[in-house]
Amino acid sequence: MFTVITIDGPSGSGKGTIARRLAAHYGYHLLDSGSLYRLVALKAIELGLAEDAPELVEIARNLDCHFTKSGAILIDGKPASSELRTEQTGAVASKIAAREDVRAALLQRQRDFAVAPGLIADGRDMGTVVFPEASVKIFLDASAEERARRRYKQLIENGFDANLNSLINEIAARDDRDRNRAVAPLVPAEDAEVIDSSNLSVDEVEKIIRRRIDAIQQ
Ligand code: DC
Repeated sequence: MFTVITIDGPSGSGKGTIARRLAAHYGYHLLDSGSLYRLVALKAIELGLAEDAPELVEIARNLDCHFTKSGAILIDGKPASSELRTEQTGAVASKIAAREDVRAALLQRQRDFAVAPGLIADGRDMGTVVFPEASVKIFLDASAEERARRRYKQLIENGFDANLNSLINEIAARDDRDRNRAVAPLVPAEDAEVIDSSNLSVDEVEKIIRRRIDAIQQ
């Protein structure tokens, strides 16, 4: 038996940080599903392919990637480029992620991450589509302004240029696309606990989720 914990939510809600911390705490595997869509986006940019190019399905199916327990991503055995985390890559990923054929190509490989002793899966549809039987489902939200502020800080800290107002607009556009697409839209699963982290620290959010996970493990 193994435990699957899903953490869904919009861009910048802090799910990545929380997922990494939980994976480290419980010694579980980590699936940062957004990276898979970002990797397909990077390949599309690199090869000059449009978001609706048929080739992207094959690319999605054949991605050779691996997440280390610390959250690092290895592509073809090598660390992923820093371009993976840019807003431009995120925006292209969000457009590609609206495609049913690309999502279908990534479905089984995401499920393959669920192995003992357990998995922390972060994304948009982890609790609704990929792992509907997960033991604990969290939907982590925060206001668009707060998420843009966090992203701004993160980008500056990582040495990227950033502009707060354009980030707010980009986040709003990406939210809109992710929430309103026909396939696997960003919505909390019916049995998810929704946590608004706008006024909570990372430590506080982690504590709330750990309490939930510890409760099911007793
Ligand atoms: O979490 P992220 O910002 O790295 O995700 C990038 C894009 O990928 C996001 O805007 C929508 C898409 N995505 C998705 O559709 N489903 C997921 N499970 C994860 C990400």
